[in-house]
Amino acid sequence: MSKHNSTTPAHQSTSGITPGFPGSLVAWWPFKSRPSLNTLAAHNRVATALITGASSGIGATFAHKLAALGYHLILVARRADRLHTLAENLRQTYRVTVDIYVADLADPADLTRLEQYVRTLDTLEILVNNAGFGTTGRFAQIELSKQLDMIHVHILASVRLTHAALPGMLARQRGNIINVASITAYIIMPGTVTYCATKAYLTIFSEALQMELPDRRVQIQALCPGYTYTEFHDSPEYAAFKRGSLPEFLWMPAEAVVETSLKALSSGKVICIPGWQNRLLVTILRSRRLSKLVVQKRLRSKLRESPAPQPAD
Ligand SMILES: NC(=O)c1ccc[n+]([C@@H]2O[C@H](COP(=O)([O-])OP(=O)(O)OC[C@H]3O[C@@H](n4cnc5c(N)ncnc54)[C@H](OP(=O)(O)O)[C@@H]3O)[C@@H](O)[C@H]2O)c1
Repeated sequence: MSKHNSTTPAHQSTSGITPGFPGSLVAWWPFKSRPSLNTLAAHNRVATALITGASSGIGATFAHKLAALGYHLILVARRADRLHTLAENLRQTYRVTVDIYVADLADPADLTRLEQYVRTLDTLEILVNNAGFGTTGRFAQIELSKQLDMIHVHILASVRLTHAALPGMLARQRGNIINVASITAYIIMPGTVTYCATKAYLTIFSEALQMELPDRRVQIQALCPGYTYTEFHDSPEYAAFKRGSLPEFLWMPAEAVVETSLKALSSGKVICIPGWQNRLLVTILRSRRLSKLVVQKRLRSKLRESPAPQPAD
């Protein structure tokens, strides 16, 4: 796990090329009804997007899409080498400024430093709370430390960074906060208890927070992807999981997830579920009775096949 230390500034500023919007990309910009992002080009305004979990998957895809729109980027994750490679690629491809910030969001000290840094960002326009990971198995058998790390990364980091970013966004009357949740927020599943619960927190947090805001000039989104092709299922936790065990139509590319999220920001809706198959699943499984019948029954029988915890001697 790579971490910055006291001699290495956590925030590594990198060679910046003047940010600006290439004209053709401005035309692509999907935000129409809200004041904002396409006026950047006209006013040569600098706008910053900070993405957690940017070293792979959905986070790296957000980085590409937002760099294509001319955003100055701050990329956060633990793997410094991956962040460096991505940053260089983005600078060369899109000619934007990219800074990297190496932090373990499960580490309270790292998170405090990042939170303080976010409070100083006076051009922050998009915050993507995306970092996350999964676990599999029974709650009682999964190491408690892993589950507490998950609560830190999914909940505490998102709450603290949102709290740090929001005052500036409200003062500037401009901003977007995307909390990457999951369709599992709506599916009560044995075998992934803390994951479902933390993602459900993010959806309710996002919906309630939007209601508190004076208008949609600061937009909150809970992005709820279904199965997405990323490195998420490559971790040792998912060694027994085979992507092919699920029907192909359930899987989406990260590009489609991120495009749907960015387009949805202009709709004013807080909950964004990319893909018709996921919206259908959520509609069906939002009914707790049905969810119990279909998902829990199937997963319970799967869990029964795995060894049950043994009583201590
Ligand atoms: N893929 C799916 O099927 C799926 C479905 C629904 C929701 N999601 C959600 O989408 C988000 C992104 O996941 P992904 O699918 O893109 O998976 P991924 O490719 O594994 O990316 C996860 C990212 O989170 C970062 N991360 C994990 N733990 C971290 C920590 N302690 N501190 C800082 N960064 C950390 C990782 O970076 P480092 O390892 O470099 O730190 C990586 O950049 C997650 O919140 C996940 O729950 C995924």
